[in-house]
Amino acid sequence: MTLKSKDLLGLKDLTKEEISLILDTAKTMKYVLTTNNKKTPHLQGKSIITLFYENSTRTRLSFELASKYMSASAANISASGSSVAKGETLIDTGKTIDMMGSDVIIIRHPMSGAPHLLARNVKASVINAGDGMNEHPTQALLDMFTILEKKGSLQGLKIAILGDIYHSRVARSNIWGLTKMGAEVSIAGPSTLMPSGIEQTGVKVYNTVQEALIDADVVMGLRIQLERQKKGLFPTTREYSRFFGIDEKRLRLAKEDALVMHPGPVNRGVELSTFVMDGEQSVINEQVTNGVAVRMALLYLLTRRGSSENSN
Ligand code: CP
Repeated sequence: MTLKSKDLLGLKDLTKEEISLILDTAKTMKYVLTTNNKKTPHLQGKSIITLFYENSTRTRLSFELASKYMSASAANISASGSSVAKGETLIDTGKTIDMMGSDVIIIRHPMSGAPHLLARNVKASVINAGDGMNEHPTQALLDMFTILEKKGSLQGLKIAILGDIYHSRVARSNIWGLTKMGAEVSIAGPSTLMPSGIEQTGVKVYNTVQEALIDADVVMGLRIQLERQKKGLFPTTREYSRFFGIDEKRLRLAKEDALVMHPGPVNRGVELSTFVMDGEQSVINEQVTNGVAVRMALLYLLTRRGSSENSN
């Protein structure tokens, strides 16, 4: 089995079988990461470009390390240090990268749909590393991988996603992915940060974080995205933390063995208290490690797909 599309643009478009394939492949890659010699020849001769129009630590570095661990040539372009700053369009930039023989372009962009536009205009595979408020599929895949590692299955698990749902591409990708894999997703946050019609995606919407937390197997906090808010959608971060933050007392509403997750970066003491963030139930550090394994799996599957097509 292989992935149907040349690109990975969102989990909305993937089947349950394709998600399982990526997660199974990531398991093998995680094993590679635990060995003394992380170098594999799987991407030898391949060229991987990260094209980031927004800041990133985890996503960009993990793609870069994944490429290097698998013996690809990897390079990064950031909008501020490239001809984008001189006014070059996304399509022209993409075509320029394509013409240099790139096999995979990984893009993060503030506009929803930018990776889709790029994918239609280049031969290379395109991976969405976060587009506006739309999707962040590789984050959701690493989140699902982390839950699977700890819980064994996603089927029937109760996942509470809490906070700034409106601006969160992580929440959207997780909702598409987790519901496809049979999990029950509950969401809660400020009413000003709740997208209208979100219940149509199959999630349960609660008025308070306390209600969403009851008996949860997984508690996922989200970063409040001040950079995407043109007007104040909640009074202060202090108020936000008081009503919507996850502290020790609120966490006790979830199951005793509930996992605490966050895509990072965390606003410490706002979305999660320091006790919860650094506590025994937190798997935030494992999420970071698993990001490399999942991105190795994706690069492997997308580049392999190309070579099996060529050999037919
Ligand atoms: N979770 C996430 O996308 O983090 P970065 O912005 O650091 O890549």
